[in-house]
Amino acid sequence: MGAMTAEFIKLELDGPVATVTIDRPKALNALNSQVLHELDAALAEVAAHRALRAMILTGGGEKAFVAGGDIAEMAGMTPQQALAFSSLGHRVLGALEQLPIPVIAAVNGFALGGGCEVALACDFIYASEKAKFGLPEVTLAVIPGFGGTQRLTRLLGRARAKELIFTGDLIDAAKAKELGLALEVLAPDKLMPFCKDVAQKIAKRGPLGVMQAKRVIAHGADLPLADANELEQQAFAALFGSGDQREGMKAFVEKRPATFSGS
Ligand code: CAA
Repeated sequence: MGAMTAEFIKLELDGPVATVTIDRPKALNALNSQVLHELDAALAEVAAHRALRAMILTGGGEKAFVAGGDIAEMAGMTPQQALAFSSLGHRVLGALEQLPIPVIAAVNGFALGGGCEVALACDFIYASEKAKFGLPEVTLAVIPGFGGTQRLTRLLGRARAKELIFTGDLIDAAKAKELGLALEVLAPDKLMPFCKDVAQKIAKRGPLGVMQAKRVIAHGADLPLADANELEQQAFAALFGSGDQREGMKAFVEKRPATFSGS
């Protein structure tokens, strides 16, 4: 992985698409502090890599995407240590959410607790038929600590989020799709090829347009509608200063495929 060495995170590049694997299968890829710091470093590397256009995030091994925050590490924490752990998780998942390029969660197995929260910080989720989602923190007498109470509520609405969080129930991939948590459900061996196809498709689009769309959707969601619409207009207009806008529209008029440079 570039110059950095990581025990639990793998970063692979396939042209414009990065695949990041949280790879600690013996603990079902549970997030301890080391995994979070390594993920943070990998995300910084992806963000700095100018040629990348999309990222896929998945879990190593057969069983799990990520089975949660590391319960063994959390078990003895004081409130102050728990605050530091939650802050670390929020910071890293914030960095994931705010990566300039789109991030697809390829949920290949258990996405529980902090693992479900990682998936929620991605732009959207595709799930294997084997995937199971849930926020089982109340079964441990705590609550989600890496953004689950907020991101799940914004995605599904309050009542569905409360149902999942209050019961701690796990749901299967079909139910996750029905709720709008996962967009598609794929056979296990089709999940990564499907995610790679979508990522490669996004990589062919005008990169500045894709980045601005991601930024405007994210920032606009927290603004009053009039301000959000203003944000869209500013971003739309700013893109007309780019060579790619000229190329994209000229190529359409000339009936040929566009070649984008990202500037
Ligand atoms: N933390 C630490 N270790 C974990 C883990 C976790 N979240 N999830 C699984 N593991 C470990 C197990 O301890 C076990 O280790 P050993 O082999 O050393 O005993 C190994 O991974 C395999 O797990 P199981 O033997 O339990 O596998 P299973 O197939 O019987 O069960 C499971 C799978 C249902 C996912 C079960 O492992 C499980 O319930 N895991 C915990 C899920 C959970 O509660 N997640 C939420 C954590 S709290 C949180 O995430 C807070 C937050 O918001 C940050």
